[in-house]
Amino acid sequence: MSTLEHEEPETETETETQPQFDQDGAVGAARALEESYGEQRARRVDEDLDDADEIVELKVFRYDPEVEEKEEPRFDSFLVPFHKGMTVLDALIYARDYYDSSLTFRHSCQQAVCGSDALYVNGSQRLGCKTQLADLEDPVRVEPLPHQEVVKDLVVDMEHFYEQMHAVEPFFDPDELPDGELEEQRQSPENREEVKLSTRCIWCGACMSSCNIAAGNNEYLGPAAINKAYRFAMDEREGEDRKQERLRIIEQEHGVWRCQTQFSCTEVCPKDIPLTEHIQELKRESVKNNLKFW
Ligand code: SF4
Ligand code: FES
Repeated sequence: MSTLEHEEPETETETETQPQFDQDGAVGAARALEESYGEQRARRVDEDLDDADEIVELKVFRYDPEVEEKEEPRFDSFLVPFHKGMTVLDALIYARDYYDSSLTFRHSCQQAVCGSDALYVNGSQRLGCKTQLADLEDPVRVEPLPHQEVVKDLVVDMEHFYEQMHAVEPFFDPDELPDGELEEQRQSPENREEVKLSTRCIWCGACMSSCNIAAGNNEYLGPAAINKAYRFAMDEREGEDRKQERLRIIEQEHGVWRCQTQFSCTEVCPKDIPLTEHIQELKRESVKNNLKFW
């Protein structure tokens, strides 16, 4: 009788071959990739410059306290192929994407809405995304906003500007709310016209940077904050009590009376807000408010 021998299937003890991380290899590969991207970018720039009808030279302020070679402020030049409709922000983006990825600046909407790319271009405060290269003299000199601490390259510290804005309580705050939950809070067309331009502010800080008084007096509320106070103090829907509170804020020592009507803020505001006019209007309101007849 034959016996069937039961053979145990051979179980292979798998010696797992875990891929070993080769750090040197990975670093080498990353470097090779970077070099190849670098070469591609350089080729692209050469082609773009060859094809361009016009070339613009950007001279851009560079500074980075955390990088040894950039601790000393300097200007770097970038040649950018120009095309019709190109803005200063477009040129900066080109310089960052094709020449130096460490070039640092703020931007977001690219349509003069977010207020993040106020810069000092050819000696004037402007929004990068609203400033056409065609309107500027070559070379185009791009610097961070003056009178603000530079964090890195074109980025300034906006903290103080925001503090001044918050000091005027920049929100709608009526004495009374309408009775019905869904009832509208109506504003007359005339009153809307009166405050309309003041509502356009995008918090870019260009006006504050252009103001000599703000540069010499850190406590001055500054044109943007006073404009914001105007926007709500003159809004008839807030009511008389709230208006009195708002006037008290702007009448303080470092409020409206510090303005010397130099118009620099009005000149640079990218939203064309008549800032100096609004400040003078609040001075008049303040005087009327404090006049007493016996
Ligand atoms: S008032 Fe004009 S310049 Fe000043 S922060 Fe507002 S938008 Fe910018
Ligand atoms: S990018 Fe938003 S205002 Fe210029």
